[in-house]
Amino acid sequence: MRTDDLPQATDEGTGDAVVLLHAFPLDGRMWESTRRALSRRLRVLAPDLRGFGRSAACTPPESLDAHADDVARLLDARKIERAALVGLSMGGYAALAFAARHGDRLSRLVLADTRANADSPEGRAGRDVNRALVAEQGCAALVEKMLPALVAPGATDAVRERVRALGGSQTPDGVRAALAAMRDRADHTATLRSVRVPTLVIVGELDALAPPDVARAMAEALPQGELTVLAGVGHLANLEAPAAFDAALEAFLTRGAREPLTSP
Ligand code: MLT
Repeated sequence: MRTDDLPQATDEGTGDAVVLLHAFPLDGRMWESTRRALSRRLRVLAPDLRGFGRSAACTPPESLDAHADDVARLLDARKIERAALVGLSMGGYAALAFAARHGDRLSRLVLADTRANADSPEGRAGRDVNRALVAEQGCAALVEKMLPALVAPGATDAVRERVRALGGSQTPDGVRAALAAMRDRADHTATLRSVRVPTLVIVGELDALAPPDVARAMAEALPQGELTVLAGVGHLANLEAPAAFDAALEAFLTRGAREPLTSP
């Protein structure tokens, strides 16, 4: 691996560190509102995972474990010992891989619109169909195909256009590598029981890809798990309901933290 293969990441704010891991086929730009909300009280890093966004020029790994190790390398590079991880969907797969491989570096965990189990045989076959689609027709065609599952039926045109813009700007190589990584990812159901930090599971009520019953089962398996369901919202919950999503996240991540001193 080249030494310049560290993923690019925004890094803003001061305080306890939190790393935001994006969904597929998007990049760190999906966290715009969350970065603004959290960086008032926390140090917020939002990487573009290798193969996506500003990390498109890096070698894209076909492994969620490699993405998890990238997060650990990013923390090393920024001299951060422990961090809270927030992963949405594919970002959640990477966060669970991180919990399995670098659990001692976690301070808290947020699993949003994601699942712990591996792909079914049908799901794996579907990844290969999508890899072929991207090779033949490009990323925009895949985003169009996925859109009905990525957002709730009532999602606004602005949200749909944002997803099209972010997803359509990725490279076929990066997207195809991530499809292989998700296809071959490990089952982390047992990892849930080993997580030793407070963990928030957030899910959109209308999430078609990782629905609330999946989220509830994860929260129950986690020793310190709790569940928040966002009403009327689909899979990309942070884009569809940024205020509710960010408020739940901020309350969880800053719970027990001292309030900043205010002037009299
Ligand atoms: C995502 O939103 O990251 C993907 O839809 C996850 C997946 O395809 O499994």
